[in-house]
Amino acid sequence: MPTIHRLDEVASTQQVARALLDEGAEHGTLVVARRQTAGRGRLARAWQSGEGGLWLSMVVRGSLPAARAPRLTLGAAALTLEALDVLGAHAAVKWPNDLVLPHAVPAARLGPWRKLGGVLLEAVLIEPGHLEGAVLRSAVLGLGLNVRTPPGGFAEELQDVAIALDTAGLSLDVDTVLGALAAPLQTRLLDVIDDTVFAGTLAFLRARSATLGMRVEVDGIAGLAERLDDEGALCVRDDGGVLHTVRAGDVQCMV
Ligand code: BTN
Repeated sequence: MPTIHRLDEVASTQQVARALLDEGAEHGTLVVARRQTAGRGRLARAWQSGEGGLWLSMVVRGSLPAARAPRLTLGAAALTLEALDVLGAHAAVKWPNDLVLPHAVPAARLGPWRKLGGVLLEAVLIEPGHLEGAVLRSAVLGLGLNVRTPPGGFAEELQDVAIALDTAGLSLDVDTVLGALAAPLQTRLLDVIDDTVFAGTLAFLRARSATLGMRVEVDGIAGLAERLDDEGALCVRDDGGVLHTVRAGDVQCMV
């Protein structure tokens, strides 16, 4: 199996994995840190990552049309849900990359969910293609998961947003979660390149979606999150009845 590098403190495991990729590390090489001092999330947001979370990045080498790169984010989210199921935590995915747990008190942007973690895909090498368009050759896939609530609680701005597995009654250590997740990510993530496998991934995600059926706002479009299309894009029907296909974005759930 590819190497798992376990580190104590780093700025971001994304940076370390990127450096390993540049040095030639094989697909599936994992970097895990106990703490990150400059963890990052999607849309250039900071990602708070003190002790108690699973902070990992994986070297991804493959070959898939760049337009299909979102499959990797969705595939990683699905593999994470499966691993959490085995551990007894039944999470959902807020499209496209948020891992969430249900919560009794609705919150702004999240509705009846709290954020347990998230997936971050950063493309490294995209080669221009001739007939089929650009091809993704390498990327770094990051995953952050709140396993234990930080001592003293989450930072104030995250208090109504974040949740950890322990709050949901699951007392696990980070290594146990890593143990359930590492091999599936290393060996199965690229399976989503295959259309039949990806169709199965989508069926699973549709059933475990925190977004479908909700009233949402995304990319300036407000309406009902109606379905995921065959490539995993979110289809939102606005109040005028027009169906919009959103390929990437930051979804706000209206409560
Ligand atoms: C998101 O929901 O915005 C994605 C968050 C991804 C966070 C993880 S933690 C491990 C890896 N290193 C980082 O700096 N970010 C990702």
